[in-house]
Amino acid sequence: MDIRICKNYEDLSTKAGARVAGQIAEKENSVLGLATGGTPEGMYRQLAEQYQKGALSFRQVTTFNLDEYIGLPTSHSLNYHAYMKTHLFSKVDLLTENTYLPDGGAMDLTAECERYETLLREAGGVDLQVLGLGHNGHIGFNEPGTPFSSTTHVVELDEKTREANARFFDKRSDVPKKAITMGIETILAAREILVLVSGLDKAEALSAMLYREVTAAFPATALQKHPNVTVLADEQAAKGLP
Ligand code: F6R
Repeated sequence: MDIRICKNYEDLSTKAGARVAGQIAEKENSVLGLATGGTPEGMYRQLAEQYQKGALSFRQVTTFNLDEYIGLPTSHSLNYHAYMKTHLFSKVDLLTENTYLPDGGAMDLTAECERYETLLREAGGVDLQVLGLGHNGHIGFNEPGTPFSSTTHVVELDEKTREANARFFDKRSDVPKKAITMGIETILAAREILVLVSGLDKAEALSAMLYREVTAAFPATALQKHPNVTVLADEQAAKGLP
C-alpha cells in the first residue's frame, strides 16, 4: 500500500479530489466507486469547485456507491441517495442515469443485491474506489466477521457503527439497523482503491488496517491483499504509525 500522510483534513481533501480528477482526466468515462460519511465531504467540495472552475467534467463518468440504509423512505434527507445529491450529484454535470446506489427500499432485497452486482459487471467494474474506514475496521458496511468472499449483501449494522452514525440523526434510535453494501470481494475487484482516513479517533483503526494480520475480524485488513491501494491519512490519523 502506498501511504501518504497529509498535513490536515483540508490537505487530505485536496489530494483526494486531485486523484479523482486525475482519474477522470486519464479516462473520461471512468467508473468511480463512491463513499458517504463525514470523511469524503471535503473531497466532494474540491470536486464541485474544480467543476465550477471548468477544470473537470463528469459528463461521461459513471458512479456506484458502496452502500445504502434499509428502512429509510426514499425521500428521507439522511439516506445516502440524499447525501450524494447534496454533496456531489447536484453540484456537477453527472448524468442521473449514470449514478447508482443500492435501493434500500426494494421489496426483494436479495434480488436488489444481485441487480447491483450485475450493473457493476455490465459497467465494466470500478476503475477507482474511494473508501472511508470505520472505527471497527469496516469498509463499506462490511462489519467485523464478514467473509472476504462476500458480494453485495444485506447487513445488520454493528452497534458501534450505529453509534458513530448517530451524529447525523436526531437520536440514536433513528439510525437504521440494516443496510445494503457492496461486499469485500466487490470492493477488492476495483482496479484502484483510495482510502481516506482522518482524525485521531481513527488512528488505531488505521494502524490495524495496515499492520494487523489479514483477518475477517478487521475487514479493512483485506486491503493488504489488493495490489493498487493508496491511503491518504491526515497527521492526526497517522499518529499511531511507526
Ligand atoms: C460510507 C461507508 C462507511 C464509511 C465509514 C467511515 O459509504 O461505507 O464505510 O466510510 O463508516 O465514516 P466517516 O467518514 O463518517 O467516519
